[in-house]
Amino acid sequence: MVSGEIVSRRPEDQWTSLDPPEEAWDRPLARPYRMWNWILWIFNLLLAAFTFSWLLLGQQNTAWLYRRTSPEAIQHEVESFVEKFEAEPGSGVVAVPPGEDAYLVARQWSFYPPILKLQAGHEYTVWYSSADVYHNPIIAEQKHTFTSVPGYKYGIRITPQEPGEYLIYCAEYCGLGHQNMISKLVIEP
Ligand code: CUA
Repeated sequence: MVSGEIVSRRPEDQWTSLDPPEEAWDRPLARPYRMWNWILWIFNLLLAAFTFSWLLLGQQNTAWLYRRTSPEAIQHEVESFVEKFEAEPGSGVVAVPPGEDAYLVARQWSFYPPILKLQAGHEYTVWYSSADVYHNPIIAEQKHTFTSVPGYKYGIRITPQEPGEYLIYCAEYCGLGHQNMISKLVIEP
């Protein structure tokens, strides 16, 4: 084909997006289509407004704190955290005193530490990260769900109120052992 040559085909012969468009493709839309366009626009704006206001009104626990890290650095950090506060060595139960930061590192296919103990009525910052792929720990009781991303750590502030035991589980498909990724948050009175 000579460059610049215009190929005209019948509309029914068009079969790729590179083919020239149908004649008069830019004519104004008929009224019902225009109305439908407006409905979609209004609906989109409402959805966008709802999304942003829900951040403020929905009392969501959003992780506003974040830092760059690496899987090695976060591994090191969480290990010294566990060493410092583990109830009994090797138990996996880490009781965090008020005023100290807590950690929860996800990896295929478990959370570390396996059991986190916090005290009711005190504010904690819990740092999340991942040592390998994307995970999504959920603490439903704390209205918190967040993607653990390797290379970053995110901090959420929580003030647990009701003493009890709460399930933490992974809600991002992260491989064959995904369904085994559970851990526990224990809130002590
Ligand atoms: Cu981790 Cu699914």
